[in-house]
Amino acid sequence: MSTPKSDQITREILSRIGQASNLEQLDAIRVETLGRNGFITELMKSVGNLPPESRRDAGQHNNALKQSVLEALDERRILLQTSELNSRLSKETIDVSLPVRTYDSGVIHPISQTIDEMVNIFSSMGFSVAEGPHIETDFNNFTALNIPPEHPARQEHDTFYLPEKDDGSRLVLRTHTSPVQIRTMLSKKPPIRIIVPGRTFRADYDSTHSPMFHQIEGLVIDQTTNMGHLKGCLIDFCRKFFKVEDLPARFRPSYFPFTEPSAEMDIGCSREGGGLTIGRTKKSGAEDWMEILGCGMVNPRVFENCNIDPEKFQGFAFGLGIERAAMLKYGIPDLRMFYDSDLRWLRHFGFSSLEIPGALGS
Ligand code: DAH
Repeated sequence: MSTPKSDQITREILSRIGQASNLEQLDAIRVETLGRNGFITELMKSVGNLPPESRRDAGQHNNALKQSVLEALDERRILLQTSELNSRLSKETIDVSLPVRTYDSGVIHPISQTIDEMVNIFSSMGFSVAEGPHIETDFNNFTALNIPPEHPARQEHDTFYLPEKDDGSRLVLRTHTSPVQIRTMLSKKPPIRIIVPGRTFRADYDSTHSPMFHQIEGLVIDQTTNMGHLKGCLIDFCRKFFKVEDLPARFRPSYFPFTEPSAEMDIGCSREGGGLTIGRTKKSGAEDWMEILGCGMVNPRVFENCNIDPEKFQGFAFGLGIERAAMLKYGIPDLRMFYDSDLRWLRHFGFSSLEIPGALGS
């Protein structure tokens, strides 16, 4: 009920609001007055106990009191906020002589960058990416690829063997990405057009060999796939990857058990002045050649090992060392540096994540 007493209390509240010296004090007054059990709240509740004829006036009067408190709270809050801000602004200064705060930003490892670039180029040619495990069966890594147990090619691979199992068989750390050819041919029907980037392992360590390294494998199988397709595909790839439009290329006869015929692909380069430049240096053509990958037409025996009819299907395959390609493209002199985790080296040879990998149209 509005009485001179409630008016009196309201006046006191208004005066306390006017004197509140910070936002916490102001909020305490708000709760005390307008909160669930606040003075004004109680006052408004009490209207229900009045005789009906006086409720209207009392209600209006109380509303007016509440309104005046709300307005006073608002006004004071704005005033206090402004003065708190002003005092902070006058106290806080920027010390321009402080040293800057440093932060580390990571870079993309050149191997990851190179894989991304290669995958982008082959994707644009219609290849999809396949993967396989690092621990392989002897069958997938060797036998199915036409490298039977006594084959001399096994010696060249410096294989890491896992402990012998009870049945005498031994798993291996895959020595190349070629076993993924077998896995793919055993699990899906041609046409096949895959690339396989991934880790490979051989017991070898010097400035051009590391026990763990990376290869990218390619496999294309269809009814009429021929050596012209192989050459076109790999020449296009090398030109895009090295960004040299007229990059000279040649194919030399070679030998791999899983391809027949087999070839090694060389690209033109120059070793003038002690450095190495990929591509044509003289109008007359490349001065020098550099081996870049192994390739060939899939050996019919490999098809037979994978239950694919060699009378119906034919295809080509290739395999390329990723470290070597990255070293050539980015002028990295020693392969071991890739895995030393030397931050200075990584910052120098690493890539910003904002660079869009790939040679599409570039
Ligand atoms: N697997 C071979 C190696 O590691 C590379 C290779 C050569 C793969 C010729 C192929 C190929 O698919 O056709 O030395």
